[in-house]
Amino acid sequence: MSSSSALFTPYSMRSLNMANRVVVAPMCQYSAVDGLVGDWHLMHVGQFAVGGHGLFVAEATAVEPRGRISLNCPGLWNDAQMAAWKRVVDFAKTWGNTPMAVQLAHAGRKGSSRKPWLGGAQAPASEGGWTTVAPSAVPFDETRPEPEALTMEGIAQIVQDFAAAAGRAHQAGFDAVEIHAAHGYLLHQFLSPLSNRRTDAYGGDFEHRTRLLLEVYDAVRAVFPADKPVGVRLSATDWVEGGWDLDDTIALAALLEARDCDYLHVSSGGLSPLQEIPLGPGYQVELCAAVTQASEIVTIAVGMIDDAKQAETIVRTGQADMVALARGMLFDPHWTWRAARVLGAEAPYPRQYERALEPFKTQAKPNDPPAP
Ligand SMILES: Cc1cc2nc3c(=O)[nH]c(=O)nc-3n(C[C@H](O)[C@H](O)[C@H](O)COP(=O)(O)O)c2cc1C
Repeated sequence: MSSSSALFTPYSMRSLNMANRVVVAPMCQYSAVDGLVGDWHLMHVGQFAVGGHGLFVAEATAVEPRGRISLNCPGLWNDAQMAAWKRVVDFAKTWGNTPMAVQLAHAGRKGSSRKPWLGGAQAPASEGGWTTVAPSAVPFDETRPEPEALTMEGIAQIVQDFAAAAGRAHQAGFDAVEIHAAHGYLLHQFLSPLSNRRTDAYGGDFEHRTRLLLEVYDAVRAVFPADKPVGVRLSATDWVEGGWDLDDTIALAALLEARDCDYLHVSSGGLSPLQEIPLGPGYQVELCAAVTQASEIVTIAVGMIDDAKQAETIVRTGQADMVALARGMLFDPHWTWRAARVLGAEAPYPRQYERALEPFKTQAKPNDPPAP
C-alpha cells in the first residue's frame, strides 16, 4: 500500500532507523525490585516491541539510588541492573523490531515517593524511603520534608552517575538515550529559578542554571557510542509566573542543537504545585511548534495526542518531527497499526499477526472464506 502520510514517513537519527514518527513515551511502571527490571517489563516492553512503532522509550531509570522516583523504579547504577535491562532488551529485539531508547533520570526532591496507586506521598524511612537531594533545600510542597542541597562534590558525582548509566545503557543494548530534564525532576529543578536558589556556578542566571544539564549531556554524549542518538526531554514551561518558560527553552534548545543533541522531547510542567496547565487535546503542541520554528533541532511533541489525523497534522504541518503517546499507548498498544490503517499507510507487523490485516486488504472479496 503506498501512502503519502507524513507520520508514516521513516526517519533516521545517526544509525537508528525508525519505521515511522510514532514514539511510545516513557512510562514508569513502579515494578522493579532493588532497581532491577523483571518479568512485568518483559511483558510491558515486549508488547510495544511488536507494535510497529518508530521508537519505544523505556521508563525513567535512575542513575543512583536516591534518583529513583519510588522504591520500585528501575536503575542503571550497577551491573546487575544492566543485566536485568539487557534481558528485557534482548527479549524485545528477538521478537520485535521497534528501536529501544531508555530515559536516564534523577528524581531529586521528588524522589522517595510511594507508588501512585498508594497515593504518591513521600515514603518514610520505615518504608525504605530516603532523604532526597536537590539544588536547594526547598521542598516540592508542604507535605514533603526539606531535601538536602547538593554540594559541589555531590553535583560532580551526579554528572559521573549519568555517564556511567549511559555506558550501561549501551551494554544493555539500548539504541538511544533520553536524558530526563522535565517534569520537576532533578535536572529540571536546576533549570527553574523556583527550585534553584543557589548562588554558586550552578544557580542564579540562565547560564548557571543550565550548566548541570549541559554537563550531563556532554558527559553522556562522551560515553554513549557516536552512532547512537542522545535526546533530552524538557518541560518547556513551569506554567508558573517567574518560573522556567518557553523563551528559556528556546535558548536552551539552541545550546543543545550546537552540541548535536539528536532531539528535544517537548513536555511541560511538574515542577510546582502552583502550576496552571491549560489541559486539552494536544495542549503542549504549540510549545513544541515554537521550539521547532526557532531552531533546527529535531522535536517530539507529546501530551493528549491520541487521534491519528491529529498526529498526522502535527507532523505534516511541521509543528514537530515526531509525536509521542503515553496513555493512549497503554490503552491501545496497537495504536500505530490503527493509525496506519486510518492514514492508508503501513506499519511493521510480526509475521504471527499479519492476518490481522486480511479484512482490510483491498484485494479480498467480501465472500472469500477465511484462509485456513
Ligand atoms: C503511567 C505513566 C508513567 C509515566 N512515566 C514517565 C516517565 O517515566 N518519564 C517521563 O518523562 N514521563 C512519564 N510520564 C509522562 C508521559 O511520558 C507523557 O508525557 C504524559 O503522560 C502526556 O502524554 P499522554 O497525554 O499521551 O499520556 C508518564 C505518564 C504515565 C501515564
